[in-house]
Parts: sequence; C-alpha cells; structure tokens
Amino acid sequence: MPHTAAQPRPQDPPQADTRPDAALETWLLARHSCRAFLPDPVPRATVERILELAQRTASWCNCQPWQVAIAEGAATDRLRGALLRRAEQAGFTPDFPFPREYQGEYLARRRESGFQLYGAVGVARGDREAYRRQEMRNFQLFDAPHVAIITTDEALGEYGAIDCGGYVANFMLAAQANGVATVAQASLAMYPEVLREVLGIPAGRRVVCGISFGYADTSHPANSYRTRRAEQAETVSWVTD
Ligand SMILES: Cc1cc2nc3c(=O)[nH]c(=O)nc-3n(C[C@H](O)[C@H](O)[C@H](O)COP(=O)(O)O)c2cc1C
Repeated sequence: MPHTAAQPRPQDPPQADTRPDAALETWLLARHSCRAFLPDPVPRATVERILELAQRTASWCNCQPWQVAIAEGAATDRLRGALLRRAEQAGFTPDFPFPREYQGEYLARRRESGFQLYGAVGVARGDREAYRRQEMRNFQLFDAPHVAIITTDEALGEYGAIDCGGYVANFMLAAQANGVATVAQASLAMYPEVLREVLGIPAGRRVVCGISFGYADTSHPANSYRTRRAEQAETVSWVTD
C-alpha cells in the first residue's frame, strides 16, 4: 500500500510536536513525585533558575506572599534529624488545619495512590509497621540533598496559601524542566515549630508545605510507578444556557 501523508514512511525521522503547548505537556507528563533521591547536590545556579521561573507565579493583588527557606548540606541533615526525633512523639499542630476527612472519590484516589506506593516498595496491605516506616521516609526527606519550606503571611489567610500552592506547582515544573526531581510534602507542615527553629522561620509566617528536591534515584522502586488522573467529565461541568 502506498504511504500517504498521514502514514509516515519508516525511514522518516519522528515528527516534532508542533502544538503550541508541546513543551508544557512534556514537563507536565514527566513530573512525578520522587520518593528516593541521590545524594548529589543541585548546583546553586540551577536552584536559582528554578526560583526565578517559579517567581512568575500569579497571586492575588500580585502580593507574592511566598517566602522560601531552602536547606542544603549540613542544614538538610540537621532538619532531617530534628524532624525524625519530633515524629517519634505523639501529636502535631500544623499552621493550617489538615483535611478533616477523605470521602468518596477522594478516599478512593488516596487509597489507590497509597497502594501504588506500597506495592512498589513491597509493603503488604495491612502491615501497619511497614506503613509507619514508609511514612517516616517523609521526615528523612526521602534522602534529598535539599528541601524548600514554603511559608505565607499570617494576615493573608487561606488565599495566601492558595498563592503558595501555585508557587509550589510552578517550582516543581521548573525543576522538572531543569532535570531536578521534587516531591511536595504537607507532612513537613505537621511540625512547623521544628521548621521554625532549625531554619529560622519568623513566628508570623505560616508553613504551607515543603518540597524536597534533588536528582532522582531512578532505580529505586518508590520511583517506578505513575499516578492516574480523573477523566475530565469527573471534574468539569459545562453550563451553556
Ligand atoms: C500540597 C501537596 C502535599 C503533598 N504532601 C505529600 C507528603 O507529605 N508526602 C508524600 O509522599 N507526598 C506528598 N504529596 C505528593 C502527592 O501524593 C502526589 O502529588 C500525588 O499522589 C500525585 O502523584 P504525582 O505527584 O506523582 O503526580 C503532596 C502533594 C501536594 C501537591
């Protein structure tokens, strides 16, 4: 059968994706939460480039309420140690209340992604001790060489936190585009007093979340799976008349 325009011949090079959003799609599809990092630090110039791009995030009244405390080197290890010690104790008091309950599809999606992680790292369903060990990996910062703690201004309330959420998303995409892996961590916001003390975060700032970052250990099973997303019809309603 003769080749038509719609059927590239085998010797043709792959066609470049000429859609205007092709680059954005590349980074969006490539990004995933990294839960095992290599120890190699990210050069300061690369981190500054990521920060420069993330700073373009939109915010209410252009307040840009995010402040970012970044730990590297010995400071990351100090923070790891302090978080692990604190996580051994009961109770936690985040600056923003954690979700009250996961219901319906939210519970289902939470469970699915959780079981994907546990399945990948070989944790059997119902093995609570192993769940706990995996949870504690959060406070080891998944061995990342760096962590960024994102805080907002107390007086800006929830909307300051929303602006910070946009910043977190853009930080992660900019990192991905620079070959740097990330994982957002609300778990670190469980212990804002530890973050304040170790990183010198002022009392008036409210902790939104952390982002551990570095280079992915691509051979680690924790990085071997990808999460799903809901169909558009599950999250969008069109109102036409
Ligand atoms: C605000 C925020 C907080 C998160 N907190 C944690 C966390 O504490 N620990 C963790 O392992 N993953 C955390 N995640 C990662 C999510 O579990 C992850 O983004 C989700 O399962 C989708 O998977 P993906 O990032 O690989 O696409 C967080 C993500 C966001 C956006």
